[in-house]
Amino acid sequence: MLDLPVAVASQPIRFHSTHIPPATYDAVATALSSKHLRAGGSYSRKAKALVSRHVGHDRVFLTNSCTSALEIAALALDLGPEDEVIVPTFTFCATATAFARKGTRIVLADIDPATMMVTAETLEARLTSRTRAVVVVHYGGAAAPMAAIKDLCDRHNIVIIEDAAQAFGTKQDGRAVGTCGLFAAYSFHETKIISAGHGGALVLNSGNPHLRERVEELLARGTNFPAFARREVNHYEWTSVSSSFEMPDLNAALLYSQLEHAKEILFKSRAIWAYYERALRNLPVEILRPGKGTQANGYSFAFLAQDRETAERLLEGSARLGLGMQSHYKPLHLSRFAGQNLAGSCPGAESTWDRLVRLPVHMDLNTGEAARICDFLQADLG
Ligand SMILES: Cc1ncc(COP(=O)(O)O)c(C=O)c1O
Repeated sequence: MLDLPVAVASQPIRFHSTHIPPATYDAVATALSSKHLRAGGSYSRKAKALVSRHVGHDRVFLTNSCTSALEIAALALDLGPEDEVIVPTFTFCATATAFARKGTRIVLADIDPATMMVTAETLEARLTSRTRAVVVVHYGGAAAPMAAIKDLCDRHNIVIIEDAAQAFGTKQDGRAVGTCGLFAAYSFHETKIISAGHGGALVLNSGNPHLRERVEELLARGTNFPAFARREVNHYEWTSVSSSFEMPDLNAALLYSQLEHAKEILFKSRAIWAYYERALRNLPVEILRPGKGTQANGYSFAFLAQDRETAERLLEGSARLGLGMQSHYKPLHLSRFAGQNLAGSCPGAESTWDRLVRLPVHMDLNTGEAARICDFLQADLG
């Protein structure tokens, strides 16, 4: 599968390693010599065009992180303290922070232990008359069951925001993941499958011109600068509370080079996923598999060990050998910040999160390294 040289056995294996296609050096040099380093330069336009091609429309806004993209979505929806937003308990805190910032009540939903993602049922269990939006996280580069979730939300007139931080390149029922909700947010952080070093994108899946204008003004730090740039007004002015969310052109140059190589990055990630799956399918672990109709991007290979003790033993043993395995987040409802005793409220997450083990997937991983990881797991669990 991976036609790269076999590594020296004693070298540590990194959990993540950013791929820098050779063309990146030229792109960065060109961006530097253009002297347009802030947002909106030629690489921003070129990278935006490639993300737009991926989602099938041009309502794509490059941001300096997925966190920023989620914050813009939250601001654009004008949610307040009287509103509730349902967020999966098993996610990175940014998914909730964006909405919590304005005092909106965060209601944490449980996940399906087989996928670590919310379902229509776990969301429905949290619906109240105050629910305005749900944030769906596509965990590990797979996809949540969007058809059923969309059906539920449409019936209750609830907005969907897709946190597709980990799912650029994933398809579900032939469509790019990130094209179902009113908004979707991708991450192009260094640890993601496609990287700008630090970056993200907000996707607006609605042709509503007012919403587009609102997003543009939020990106212009809460001014009507876009109208000023189009010469529709003589002066630009403060129009709302916002922040600095845009992706600088230097980062867009990195992003553009990676997007140009997205096909080979996805191909290799999926090949590594398939290699691990073949090697480990007979071990006593529950591999997280993409649902029916989903072509995952291969960003993450994760499994649930039999129990917490086994997961800890594997993580500690692999760390001693430099095998680059990792756990993942503690559910939000059990976090210090949740500030209340919510233990018992999300049994799916509670029965799984501390059994989760993730294996390295990246462009620099070679066959020998993948085999060493599988040998270690075979020796312990086989
Ligand atoms: C599910 C999820 N949402 C949001 C984020 C935040 O992404 P960023 O680092 O681009 O702000 C992450 C980052 O890991 C994530 O995993």
